[in-house]
Amino acid sequence: MKILAIESSCDETAAAVTEERQVLSSIVSTQIAEHRIYGGVVPEIASRRHTEAISAVCSDALKAAGITYSDIDAVAATFAPGLIGALLVGVNFAKGLSMALNKPLIPVHHLRSHIAANYIDNPELKPPFLCLLVSGGNTVIAEVTDYTKFKILGGTRDDAAGECFDKTARAMGLAYPGGVTLDKIATTADPQKYPLPFPKVSSGEFDFSFSGLKTAVMNLVNNSAQKGEEIDVPVVCATVRQRVCDMLIDKTLKAAEKYGYKTLAVAGGVSANSELRARLTEECKHKGISLYFPELKYCGDNAAMVGVQAFYEFKDGNIGDSSLNAAATMPID
Ligand code: KG4
Repeated sequence: MKILAIESSCDETAAAVTEERQVLSSIVSTQIAEHRIYGGVVPEIASRRHTEAISAVCSDALKAAGITYSDIDAVAATFAPGLIGALLVGVNFAKGLSMALNKPLIPVHHLRSHIAANYIDNPELKPPFLCLLVSGGNTVIAEVTDYTKFKILGGTRDDAAGECFDKTARAMGLAYPGGVTLDKIATTADPQKYPLPFPKVSSGEFDFSFSGLKTAVMNLVNNSAQKGEEIDVPVVCATVRQRVCDMLIDKTLKAAEKYGYKTLAVAGGVSANSELRARLTEECKHKGISLYFPELKYCGDNAAMVGVQAFYEFKDGNIGDSSLNAAATMPID
C-alpha cells in the first residue's frame, strides 16, 4: 500500500511516499532561515510558506519515489497538534488530493508519527514498549500498548524539554533553533561553574518540570548583563543540557522499571540530543533494556514518519473524510 504523506504542523513542509515501514522518498522543505531573524517560528509566516511549498514538495516526493499521483493508494496528513494555520494547509491539500484521486484520507496525530519514526529503520521494534517523547512542544512518557493505542504515564507540568533548550539558548543570544546550537556548544565545556537548579516535581511520579531551570538561566543572564559581567556560555549550555537529561533519563528509567518494560524508544526533535543519546545508551546497556532512537534525519519533523504511522491507522480503520479539521491541541490517546 503506497501512501503519500504530508506534514505541515510547524516550520517544515514535508511529503513522503511510504509502503508499510519502508520509505520510498522523503522531502523536507524547511523555513528555519526565515524564522531565525525573529528568534522563533512566526505562525502567519509559517502558514504562507506552507501554502507556497506544498504542491512542489508533494510532486518532488512522487518523483523521487519514481511514481505518479495515480500510483498512490492513500493520502495521509498530520492533523493535530500543531500551529493551526500551518496544519490546515496540509490537511486541506490532502483532502483535495483524496477527493480528486478518489483514495482514502488518513489523519495522523503528530506525536504518534514521531513515535513511528522509530519503526523506519528498526524492523524488530513492535509494541508493547515504553516511549520517551521529547519535542519542542511536548515531553511525555507513554506506554505504546499497540500501534494506535497509547497510555500516558507522565508529562511536563510547564515547558517541554525542547522549549527549555530553545528559550535558554535564546536568552544567551544563540541562533534559532536553540536546542541544536546549545547541544553543539555544550559539548565543549564541563557543567560545574553555575549553581543552576536541578528540576524537581514534588508530586506526579513521572511528571516533569523545566520552567524553574529556564527562569534560573534567564535570571543569570539578566543579572550578569546588569553587572556588566560576561557569562560562560559553553558552561551554561553544558549545565542546562545535563540538568534536562538528568530528569528525562531518571524518570524514564524509573517508569521502565515500575512497569516492567525491557524495550524503550525515544522520539521527537530532542531525541537528536547527543548527551541524551549517549547516556541512555550506556544506562540501557547496563540494565539490559533494548533502546531505540530514530535515525537523526527522522528525529525532527518529516513526512516519512507520518506515512509509516498512517499505515497502522489505516489498518485500525482510522479513516477521515471531507469533514476532517485540524486541531492545535489533542492528546495522543
Ligand atoms: O519534534 P520537533 O522537530 O518539533 C515538534 O514537533 O515540536 O522538535 C523540535 C525541538 C526544538 O525544540 C529543537 O530545539 C529540539 O527539538 N532539538 C534539540 C536537538 N535537535 C533538535 N534539542 C536538543 N538537542 C538537539 N540536538
